[in-house]
Amino acid sequence: MPFHGKNIILAISGGIAAYKSVELVSLFKKLGANVYCVLSESAENFVAPLSLEVMSKNKVYTKQDKHTIEANKAYIDHIELAKTADLILLAPATANTISKLACGISDDLIFDIILASQAPIAIAPAMNTNMWAHKVIQKNLSFLIDELNYHIIPPSTGDLACGVQGIGRLAELNDILKHSAYVLETQITKMDKDDIVGKSLDLANKNIIISSGGTREFIDPVRFIGNTSSGEMGFALAQEALYRGANVILVSTVDYEKDPIKAAILEHPNLVKLRANTSEEMRMAIEANFDDSVDVLIMSAAVADFRPKEYSDSKIKKEKNPDNSTINLELTENIDIVKHVAGNKLPHQVIIGFSLETENLLENASKKLIDKNLDMIVANNQEALGNYQSQISIIYPSTDKTQDLEIVELELQDKLENAKSILDHLNLILKARNEKNTDIISG
Ligand code: C5P
Repeated sequence: MPFHGKNIILAISGGIAAYKSVELVSLFKKLGANVYCVLSESAENFVAPLSLEVMSKNKVYTKQDKHTIEANKAYIDHIELAKTADLILLAPATANTISKLACGISDDLIFDIILASQAPIAIAPAMNTNMWAHKVIQKNLSFLIDELNYHIIPPSTGDLACGVQGIGRLAELNDILKHSAYVLETQITKMDKDDIVGKSLDLANKNIIISSGGTREFIDPVRFIGNTSSGEMGFALAQEALYRGANVILVSTVDYEKDPIKAAILEHPNLVKLRANTSEEMRMAIEANFDDSVDVLIMSAAVADFRPKEYSDSKIKKEKNPDNSTINLELTENIDIVKHVAGNKLPHQVIIGFSLETENLLENASKKLIDKNLDMIVANNQEALGNYQSQISIIYPSTDKTQDLEIVELELQDKLENAKSILDHLNLILKARNEKNTDIISG
């Protein structure tokens, strides 16, 4: 177990999400970690040190310890604590704490400990959406990631305490545990993967190709036919698959490196990133990698069905067509990548497609599942494109040996939550295949 016997310092800064720290301590304790809580001065307004002390069964360090600990040798000195930590987790991390960290200001015990420690540091920000998006916060976060190698646990999207809806909520506790386990693991050995929170790394050693983003079909060097896909779904799938132990090839039209948090998450030893712009580039990247060792292909990319028949090497001039205000663009059909790959798949390989429909969602998606010889299809409507949240339905042939389709309609939620559900159902399919193979071998 990654947490067993590990010393975790939970540094809590003063945001409303600080109340969740009591439960977080309880989860870490259940997983066998020793937890030492350190509260910033303002965190004491949100969570009682006594609650954390009862839960962690350790002394809780607060601002007053900054100067009094030396006098009381009954407790471990906080600097000593910083030295023996296996991980420092700052959760929640407020905008103020993040910015002070980036400047090396140390006006609170939290900072003394972080600055005095050589342990890996993971931080889980929580703040108002606009504060999160503010340039200065993003700049400070980039510094913490790039220069100090801090690991960021991105906030989730939803209702915030300040009354707005958007990104900025403290990540789900389960996600905080997964990130913490990852940071601890990669410090110890990248290969030694074990159970996290009772849920095993159920995709360990699975080789998964995920396509992501919207393709661009170029008309000339500067113009293209595209769509509004943001690549959020593919990113969420890659993130979740990596945390569950998979080896992932992410073929994407989106440059995730521009977002420091995404870039940090994708800085994973089990990930290969490939860029593709056009449908044809995406097809070539996928087909070049889709060999017998691949277990799963997830085509979450919004691939254009058509591309311009002719490509102009130079920018098309308006005056080329002086006596006509219209221009005709002839389109030609792209190869359907997922259909093509699924047509040649091996029995152990699982192919998942997506289906965006504006009408008869479930019916049309189910038809596509059959037509394209897929093992699962994820149906969504056009609101899913370009948003952080989506309402999806997961459709696949039932694994209980009946011919029925399993149709799981989920509520509108974060794409990361959808990714988790998709991978949970993928696991059911993989398990059923495994059992079938065992039956064949033993029969
Ligand atoms: O038929 P439709 O385009 O709605 O199918 C969507 C699914 O097919 C998605 O999984 C998409 O990634 C995939 N697709 C593809 N190649 C294309 C067009 C779509 O793989 N040329």
